[in-house]
Amino acid sequence: MSGVKELGYVVYEVGDLADWEHFAVELLGMQFGEKTDGGFTLRTDEKAHRWIVTAGPADDLVATGYEVSDAAALDALVEKLRAAGVEVTEGDDALAAARKVERIFVTADPMGNRVELVTGLADAATPFESAKLLGRFVTGAGGAGHQVLLAHGVPRETYLRFYIDLLGFKVSDVIVEELAPGVVADLIFLHCNGRHHTVAFGDLPSPKRTHHFMAEVTDIRDVGLAFDRCMDAGRPFEMTLGMHPNDHMFSFYVFTPSGFSVEYGWGGLVIDDETWEVRTLDRLHSWGHRPPGVVAELLAAAPATSGEGDR
Ligand SMILES: [Fe+2]
Repeated sequence: MSGVKELGYVVYEVGDLADWEHFAVELLGMQFGEKTDGGFTLRTDEKAHRWIVTAGPADDLVATGYEVSDAAALDALVEKLRAAGVEVTEGDDALAAARKVERIFVTADPMGNRVELVTGLADAATPFESAKLLGRFVTGAGGAGHQVLLAHGVPRETYLRFYIDLLGFKVSDVIVEELAPGVVADLIFLHCNGRHHTVAFGDLPSPKRTHHFMAEVTDIRDVGLAFDRCMDAGRPFEMTLGMHPNDHMFSFYVFTPSGFSVEYGWGGLVIDDETWEVRTLDRLHSWGHRPPGVVAELLAAAPATSGEGDR
């Protein structure tokens, strides 16, 4: 098996480091990892880092690190990519040290997203500790989480050739929903381990590389508490609480200080390739996930209750 095993880490280039630190640590409950030359790192488990946040103008995803099981598998994967005509370069010691990995190769997907193929993402020297969470983040064999990337007009068969034929991902399902007359959302979800999807792709109206990163927690109360913290802090939400019909994630979407979103969720489906059947669904949300403006209008339009003075 020479394919990708799991999502190891993501690298974001952001304009406001201080706001990002507050957002990730105080609101999402991540652990500050360490200061780096250009920014800082964030932990969500025993690993040295899962998010690498670096100062810069992109306000977007600038690299994704995928872990491969061992050195032999990494060599085989690099060989396969090169045989298919994909340019792959070996990262130097400085890059390996910055990413805290044993070995690293760098390539790009057909959309131009930088992809880092690594082995041996290091553990941190101290146990994971969140000042905010009652439970913990769901990582382990399912990797750091999942992300949705923008296709930006690149044909589906082109990026699937890279992610499925070369990196070894498998299709989980497809969702095609007509959001408004003539406006169709069409997303394809891919997995490389039991997590329902590690990456998904679609043409969404966004100039960014990434639409969202999903961080999953073990305790449903942490979704509610993070929702309250983000609301109390006046953060803009993309979608309020709801659930997806394919991975069953109970979640909300809040905008990061960089303008793409974090999905903060609980209860994501773990799938088994032996029994999994690929389906096409016709809706992105089984309930909820309504934009905050819609919720605000509905709540404001409801008649006032009679018992307000009793409380
Ligand atoms: Fe998601």
